[in-house]
This record gives sequence, C-alpha cells and structure tokens, in this order.
Amino acid sequence: MGATIVVGGQWGDEGKGKIVDFLAGKADAVVRYQGGNNAGHTVVVDGHEHKMHLVPSGIFYGKLSIIGNGVVLDPAVLTREMAYLEGQGIDLAPLRISECAHLIFPYHIVQDAHEEKQKGDARIGTTKLGIGPAYQDKSARIGIRVIDLLDEEAFPELLRRNLDTKNNLLRRVYDDAGFAERDYETMLDTYRTYGRRLRPFVTDTAPLIEDAVRSGKNVLFEGAQGTMLDLDHGTYPYVTSSHPVAGGACIGAGIGPTLIDRVVGVVKGYTTRVGDGPFPTELMDEVGSFIRERGHEYGTTTGRPRRVGWLDLVVVAVSRRTSGLGYLALTRLDTLSGLEKVRVCVGYRYDGQRLDVFPHSLKVLSRCEPIYEEFAGWEDIGGVTSWDGLPGAARDYVTAVAELSGVPVAMVSVGRDRVQTLQLHDVF
Ligand code: GDP
Ligand code: IMO
Ligand code: MG
Repeated sequence: MGATIVVGGQWGDEGKGKIVDFLAGKADAVVRYQGGNNAGHTVVVDGHEHKMHLVPSGIFYGKLSIIGNGVVLDPAVLTREMAYLEGQGIDLAPLRISECAHLIFPYHIVQDAHEEKQKGDARIGTTKLGIGPAYQDKSARIGIRVIDLLDEEAFPELLRRNLDTKNNLLRRVYDDAGFAERDYETMLDTYRTYGRRLRPFVTDTAPLIEDAVRSGKNVLFEGAQGTMLDLDHGTYPYVTSSHPVAGGACIGAGIGPTLIDRVVGVVKGYTTRVGDGPFPTELMDEVGSFIRERGHEYGTTTGRPRRVGWLDLVVVAVSRRTSGLGYLALTRLDTLSGLEKVRVCVGYRYDGQRLDVFPHSLKVLSRCEPIYEEFAGWEDIGGVTSWDGLPGAARDYVTAVAELSGVPVAMVSVGRDRVQTLQLHDVF
C-alpha cells in the first residue's frame, strides 16, 4: 500500500498508460504530475483503444483521477477529452484538476512553432503543442493558472497583459502578425467557457493526495515522457521542459519524498524515440523497420514514425539512478517476436575506452559505439498468460535484463490489452 510512482525509463512511449491502467485496478487514485498533452497514453480495455493526453489512466477503473499542479493544461484538449470519455460512458465524477496547474494558450502554440523553425537543423522536434513556451512562462512568473482563469475579475487583465507581451515577441522577433483585438475577445470568450466547464472539477489537489497517502490508500503517480526527456537528466537540449523523473512527482503533485513508497520504471524490450536528438542504439536497417512496422511504432500524439533501436541499459541505468527504481515493467516483448537474435546494449565504446555511464556531451555521445550482448529470439507470445508459458529464450531475456540492469522485473507485457500482462512480483 502507499504511493507508487510510474516513470518512463527511456524516451517516452514505453507503455506507461498500459502499466498504470493495469496497476490502477488495485489503486485508489492516479495522479498526473508533469507534462501536458504532449503525452499520449494508450489504454486498451477489452480490445477497445483509448488514447489519453491529460486525464490520468485511472479513469477507466473509475478511480480518483487527479491532474496535479505540475501539469501544463490546454483546456481545449482537456474539455475534448472529457467529452470523449463521457461519450464512452465513463463517469467524470472522480476527476480533479489542480487550481495551480498552468494553462496553455494559443500564443504558446504559435511560439513553439516559431522557436522550432528558428532553430532550423538544430530543432528539437517538439510536439508543437505549446508545452515548452507554457513552462517558460511559468518560470518567468507570468504564467496564467487555472485559479486565475476562474477569477472572472482578474482573468481578462492577465490575458491582455500576456497577449501584449507575446505580440511584442511575435512581431519583433518572429515577424508574425500576432494576435489582434478581435482575437483577444474570442480567446477571452473561449477560455471563459472552458473555465465554466472545468470549475466543478477544480480544487487544491495536494491536500487530497496527502490525505489519500496518509490514510493508507494506494496512490499511483503517472509519469509522462521519460527519463531521457527530463529537462535536467535527459539528452539536453533534446528534452521536454518538465521533470518526468520520480522527483518531479513530489513537485508536480505537492507531496514530500518521505511519502513515496516505491518507483516503477516502464521500459520497452527495445528503445524508441520520437523527435530529434542522440540515440546511440538506433537501428537504421531492416531490423529497425521490422520492429517499427510490427509494433506500429507511430506517435500517439503526432503520428510521427518513432525511431527504433535496441534496448539500451546505459539509458536504463540513468533511470535507475535518477528515479531510484525499485522495479521494472518490461513492455512489448511480443513486438520482438520473430527476430532470430535480440541485442541489448550494456555499455558504450568511446575513443578506445569503455563507458558505463551515459555521457552528457552531445559530441561524445555522437561518437559512442554501443557494446552489445546477444540473445536468442522467440516466436509469437501474445497469447501467453504466465511466466512458465513464455518460451525459454524470452524468459532468459527478461532474466538477463533484470540482472544486467540491477532492477527486478515485476511485470512483463506481451500485448496491448490490459489482460496481456504477466505479473512476476506484487508491486503493492
Ligand atoms: P506511453 O506514452 O508510455 O503511455 O505509451 P504509448 O501509449 O504512447 O505507446 C505505447 C504503445 O504500445 C501503445 O500503442 C500501447 O497500446 C502499446 N503497448 C503497450 N504495451 C505493449 C505490449 O506489451 N505489446 C504491444 N504490442 N503493444 C504494447
Ligand atoms: P509520452 O508521455 C515521446 C518529445 C518530443 C520532442 C521532445 C520535446 O506519451 O511518453 P515537447 O513538445 O515536449 O516540447 O517536445 O519531447 N516528447 C515525447 N516523446 N513520448 C512523449 O510522451 C513525449 N512528449 C514529448 O517528441 O522530442
Ligand atoms: Mg506516448
């Protein structure tokens, strides 16, 4: 029992939504703590797929589902997602939204596009959803929070102030027409409508979370993105603007580290990355294409093809250290089915020397050669329902990943559906 953080152990899209949904069956609450609708978390229940961007994956079990203060919220996306869920017959009563979450506005999205364009070949490959600019405003202390949106007196002035500031930036730096007075009026009206829709769900969520944890309830923290996209610990500058690592949960939910009981790292049996930036084990050959096609590795949020490579345990070690992983959830083992050999990177060779720790210099990274261990492949395992039912080669692979990473594997996922999950250890 207690608080469990679920983090992405790679560059995102590890299957966090699936694992959180699986664990949510035994949880009382699920909390999103950072990121925004750059996240795309897929949950498959009874063969039915749901792609969630903001609402925590606990909603499918009707569990208390909290959007914490650390999230940047695009109310257009959230209200659309709420309508979708209601259309699916899912009760929104357990949804809570932090009054301290910062809002995304249309000018953030425009700014994101300009920043990317200006970077040219050095672009990050963002989702262009305004995430970075919204966090910039938060740090610059000019952000507009949900609580401000609900303050009908103060909101129009705050919006005008920010729109003036952004117009200065857009016109002077980016040669953009900016937002006209009628755009201001439309934005004000639209956001007031969002405010009315969201108001019943808005509250101070941190005390709710503390109460749940202290009263012995099971609370899950659903990380978005992944360790290597962390603003401090990832492949900077090819990162997102928040802290996906476990420490981000304390800040983004508003509870202290002594209340956290355990951390689960979700890791694919291989690696993917969407967007630009270093990727030492990237496969540019037919094995990469095989995995991409077999695994339908295309972005949940942007539809972009995901870059594919072998499992990189140097990366997983960054996650083990920065998030203090107690368990791994190893996903997508079925996607590797049909390969004769499966490789795992256990270190890098750089300048004739072996590196066991992920380097921070992009120059060094670009010259790192992965050192691989090779394992025998296995055939289709999508229908396997127990550890003993897995082929010996797949079991050897899982055992080796646990040994080489130094983190026990608590769950093995062999398909998209909630039921295609093998539990090797109880997480809570
Ligand atoms: P998230 O962002 O970490 O929640 O992951 P995404 O939902 O963006 O991407 C993971 C994709 O893999 C989704 O389409 C999931 O349905 C799917 N998925 C998760 N686990 C497995 C698995 O074990 N096998 C297969 N084939 N698909 C999986
Ligand atoms: P989930 O939660 C994979 C990537 C973008 C880009 C970088 C910065 O589904 O795992 P941003 O729009 O955040 O400023 O883009 O981060 N990125 C993700 N990649 N999964 C995600 O979320 C991602 N969220 C952002 O592709 O490289
Ligand atoms: Mg995703």
